[in-house]
Amino acid sequence: MKFFVDTGEIDEIREAAKLGILDGVTTNPSLVAKSGRKYKDLVKEICDVTDGPISAEVLSTDYDGMMFEAHEWHKVADNVVVKLPLIEDGIKACVTCTKEGIKTNVTLCFGPTQALLAAKAGATFVSPFVGRLDDIAYDGLELIREIRKIYDNYKYKTEILTASVRGPLHIRDAALAGADIATIPFKVFGQLLKHPLTDVGLKKFVEDSAKIPKGTMILERDKALKH
Ligand code: G3P
Repeated sequence: MKFFVDTGEIDEIREAAKLGILDGVTTNPSLVAKSGRKYKDLVKEICDVTDGPISAEVLSTDYDGMMFEAHEWHKVADNVVVKLPLIEDGIKACVTCTKEGIKTNVTLCFGPTQALLAAKAGATFVSPFVGRLDDIAYDGLELIREIRKIYDNYKYKTEILTASVRGPLHIRDAALAGADIATIPFKVFGQLLKHPLTDVGLKKFVEDSAKIPKGTMILERDKALKH
């Protein structure tokens, strides 16, 4: 499963990249507005942090505006992916981008037939919003399972990019469902790692390590690292 970070905060992206397991970044107009940054400046800075896919969302809602922005984003860097909303003009723009070799992330997906349209339009990624479905008592993970089955039935290459993630269980369940990617809020990255029994177990191991007579390796380590 590929991990993207879902944020407009460059510091969070840098921190996530330090883990060594970051595969890409997704942004959206709300996240960028929150950052206070100009969109293109922010995306260019993100390009300096990762060479993985970076999703930049069009602000237009009409075909011509979307295509203008798509061409502008395509000039920024090869790893910039154009994010298009799952509306009629977004699907039309996705078809054109596909023909022109521009990578796309079709977003605001809430139903399996929408995801089917995105795949038929040649989307590189489709972003089903699991958290927002859960928020209104729909089963967000069921959508992931439905899309996975549909895409496998027809061998669509569009990658399922699980979005609107609210916590580590979304990642677990999306991975079990066979999603290709999860785009993860920065705070959730930390939640994936932590388990109280790991901390308890390591504390005991450290305590017991101190009882082991120091051998050459440890003595040389301490000398080398000036412990
Ligand atoms: O960036 C796309 C998506 O992950 C945002 O979802 O529900 O956290 O705004 P949400």
